[in-house]
Amino acid sequence: MALRRKDILGLRDLSLEEIDEILNTAELMKYILTQNNKRTPHLQGKSIVTLFYENSTRTRLSFELASKYMGASAANVSTPSSSVAKGETLLDTGRTIESMGADVIIIRHPMSGAPHLLAKHVDASIINAGDGMNEHPTQALLDMYTIKEKLGRLNDIKVAIIGDIMHSRVARSNIWGLRAVGAQVYLAGPQTLMPLDIEKTGAVVCTTVEEAIEGADVVMGLRIQKERQREGLIPSIREYAHLFGIDKERIELASPNLIIMHPGPVNRGIEMTSEVIDSPASVINEQVTNGVAIRMALLYLLTRRRMVA
Ligand code: CP
Repeated sequence: MALRRKDILGLRDLSLEEIDEILNTAELMKYILTQNNKRTPHLQGKSIVTLFYENSTRTRLSFELASKYMGASAANVSTPSSSVAKGETLLDTGRTIESMGADVIIIRHPMSGAPHLLAKHVDASIINAGDGMNEHPTQALLDMYTIKEKLGRLNDIKVAIIGDIMHSRVARSNIWGLRAVGAQVYLAGPQTLMPLDIEKTGAVVCTTVEEAIEGADVVMGLRIQKERQREGLIPSIREYAHLFGIDKERIELASPNLIIMHPGPVNRGIEMTSEVIDSPASVINEQVTNGVAIRMALLYLLTRRRMVA
């Protein structure tokens, strides 16, 4: 088992075989995670560095734990207290980290394409942990893993993604990945937050939340960024919750086997009610656990590639 590619930059350019290989490897990693002793030697001698230019709880911590569980040395560059704050460029920072022996650099950056730029200039493997409005591939992979674990398949299912599609890298990666594996993706949200050409991906744009949720096997809420109200892109937060919020009445339209997902962090009572978030159909906490398994799988597959290349 190994991936042929050096980097994980997006779901758009991953083949079906590669997605399968990552999800199958994550299943082995999930088994390890359920053991009393989570330590494995898979990454012994490897160095993994997280370089985050934006805040994160889940993604950064899960990469750090994944590295440690598998015996790697894990370090984090905190951008406010590093030389980034003195004006060091992304490439100079990346090369500096690589010069210290990093095998994998995991980067989150507000600019779309920043991980791709870094990947071209360093030999270390680069994992995109979220770049601007572009992609968040490891989130979509953990979402797909969770759907497969809960529903038993990824093809021939209806997935409703609700909220700010335009600014959501999570939505974009999920659309690419879910379409590749044969899922039907339905989108709903304020028109001002719906990208014009999104239908070219094969996703269906709905005029109401009800239309998207009707018969859905998966309902995925997205975090609403409150600054969108100041920009005039959404009505008041209260009106957003009324028109687009996922509540008990709306999820009653979905399939009886529905699962409810959210990448987190959740604004309770805005994109989803607490009743929905804490309902038996919610798999939000399982998504977090599966995030560690997916990140263990990716680190293993990329570092193994470096050993066999
Ligand atoms: N879902 C997600 O990316 O969460 P964090 O911002 O906490 O990493």
